Amino acid sequence: MIKKCLFPAAGYGTRFLPATKSMPKEMMPIVSKPLIEYGVEEALQAGMNDICIVTGRGKRTLEDHFDTNYELEHQIAGSDKESLLTNIRQLINQCTFSYTRQREMKGLGHAILTGEALVGDQPFGVVLADDLCINTEGPGVLAQMAQLYNLFRCSIVAVMEVSAEETHKYGIVSGQTISDDLIRVETMVEKPAEEDAPSNLAIIGRYILTPDIFDLIRNTDPGKGGEIQITDALMAQAQQGCVLAYKFKGRRFDCGSIEGFIDATNYCYDSIYS
Ligand code: UTP
Repeated sequence: MIKKCLFPAAGYGTRFLPATKSMPKEMMPIVSKPLIEYGVEEALQAGMNDICIVTGRGKRTLEDHFDTNYELEHQIAGSDKESLLTNIRQLINQCTFSYTRQREMKGLGHAILTGEALVGDQPFGVVLADDLCINTEGPGVLAQMAQLYNLFRCSIVAVMEVSAEETHKYGIVSGQTISDDLIRVETMVEKPAEEDAPSNLAIIGRYILTPDIFDLIRNTDPGKGGEIQITDALMAQAQQGCVLAYKFKGRRFDCGSIEGFIDATNYCYDSIYS
């Protein structure tokens, strides 16, 4: 069973400036819960309670969030506000949290490699907390992927269909169809223009990775935008062995964009309060 889940959370979140000037994007709340907390809940539901977070400068509030705040908790003890902390307290008790810093923002691949010190030599989940995934009809997306991992024992990326105009925002995969929701990856292109995209299947921020990915990232040259792309390392892994793309069940909101963040807020507000 996979126990570790890595949260690359060192990015600058420039699309949300000025909000993210001194506050991590991952701490932005959808209604009253920060994005990172939704992600940790999803990991825990998938059985991954060893939470490894890659942070950067100005991200200390992430660590504070998963810690006790004695003054505050003493202040509201016994009041009706105390119940607002029930969920986060349970989460903190059920998980362990460890942190490492990415000193230079050299891309998602580099952030994942930075997490090697925390993950070690075992398969692990990856959650990009600014992708909020909600499945009201069954297990969360990471839990769906963990079940698949138990069958196939190889790296898995979650994918969804996007419109042709949107391919330039994502890693796009194509390959051999195994079943309605599963593809064996043969091609993977980072942020292709519409005319170069091999399909309309876009990788979203959920992965299960086998630990050989670390050496593959180490051997990956900077790609698009001068960043070390996880897509390039995954392509090498697909060529040498097997990478699966899984069309997950549920909804995904791109909370790294203003539009996706507002959609997620409206969706969660409606489901909580109506
Ligand atoms: P994004 O590109 O969506 O995040 O990276 P960003 O760079 O913070 O956002 P913008 O584009 O400037 O608004 C996807 C995920 O990878 C992490 C980010 O924190 C985010 O969760 N990441 C990205 C890192 O941890 N390190 C990096 O060097 C790059």
